[in-house]
Amino acid sequence: MLGIARAHTNIALIKYWGKKDKDLFLPMTSSLSLTLDAFYTDTKVQFDPSLQQDEFYLNLIPQEATPITRFLNLFRQYMDKTYYARVESLNFVPTGAGLASSASAFAALAGAINVASQLHFDAETLSTFARQGSGSATRSIYGGFVEWEKGTSSQTSLAKHIDNAEWDIGMIIIVVNTKEKTISSRSGMEHTVKTSPFYPAWVESSKQDLIAIKKAIHTKNFQTVGEIMEWNSMKMHATMLGANPPFSYFEPESILAHQQVYRLRQLGLPVYMTMDAGPNVKLLCRASDMDTIKKELSSVFSKNQLISSLPGKAMRTLTEKEWEHSLNTFKEHQL
Ligand code: DP6
Repeated sequence: MLGIARAHTNIALIKYWGKKDKDLFLPMTSSLSLTLDAFYTDTKVQFDPSLQQDEFYLNLIPQEATPITRFLNLFRQYMDKTYYARVESLNFVPTGAGLASSASAFAALAGAINVASQLHFDAETLSTFARQGSGSATRSIYGGFVEWEKGTSSQTSLAKHIDNAEWDIGMIIIVVNTKEKTISSRSGMEHTVKTSPFYPAWVESSKQDLIAIKKAIHTKNFQTVGEIMEWNSMKMHATMLGANPPFSYFEPESILAHQQVYRLRQLGLPVYMTMDAGPNVKLLCRASDMDTIKKELSSVFSKNQLISSLPGKAMRTLTEKEWEHSLNTFKEHQL
């Protein structure tokens, strides 16, 4: 009863910001993301009759297993025979990237449990499980552009593959700060839903953005995809400025990054920005422009503040040999 899986992280172009149901992780709005190749999690799950409790190792270090037990139980309720499990995860999200890894983590965990439990749920159903670990993990089940349909129940709030994004698309992460965020996305979104008078407008506007961006993706209209993404991100951050008390994830260097994006656009480079529950700025650009953009930005940011990625693929299962390889790579680099 062994399962191993790899899932990549994703960046939302149309954001998920607010829950309708906290326990089931049902979102207020549908969202849409791009899966990234450069950042992923590999996870191995083994159900073992000799274990007295669940065990969890992250990057080879033993961890408190309670959140993993809760997640394993979502699957155990469907299993005839249940055992405790040993869960090992390797995060290939460079610590310096300052990116949250909960999306790739729960998508990989769901994928590995799916095999180890021999339940073999299909990808859409699996996304409903990943969702209950962390909302954004719903979308990491698929590669390329992915929509998380908000749905009306736990069964219908799921991910759908939209497009493989193989049309000259890339992302550059500008790392502003690698420190743990002061306000988690979970509590930030809850506070916003409860107190921001801008929130209902966000819900309404986000609906329109999603329709428009899907149309633009369909017609491969890069500029429109970028413009909608940037506007959607700004509107999400505006809901936080309207919360009571107000809060913001912007730091001085986030603003600096924004100014650089405007400058790059004036130079004629199609590049657009988005930000999540942290100060790092993510740029959507043409993959073929990535080197030029990084060069332009190197006058303002250091080389290790700029990390680029191409679109990533869907969650997939790994063989034991691939896991061994992954383990060796991890140890070599000690990420
Ligand atoms: C700003 O998925 O981290 O990145 O569901 O509470 O685990 P929980 O939140 P999480 O929120 C992500 C918020 C976001 C936007 C997005 O990824 O859509």
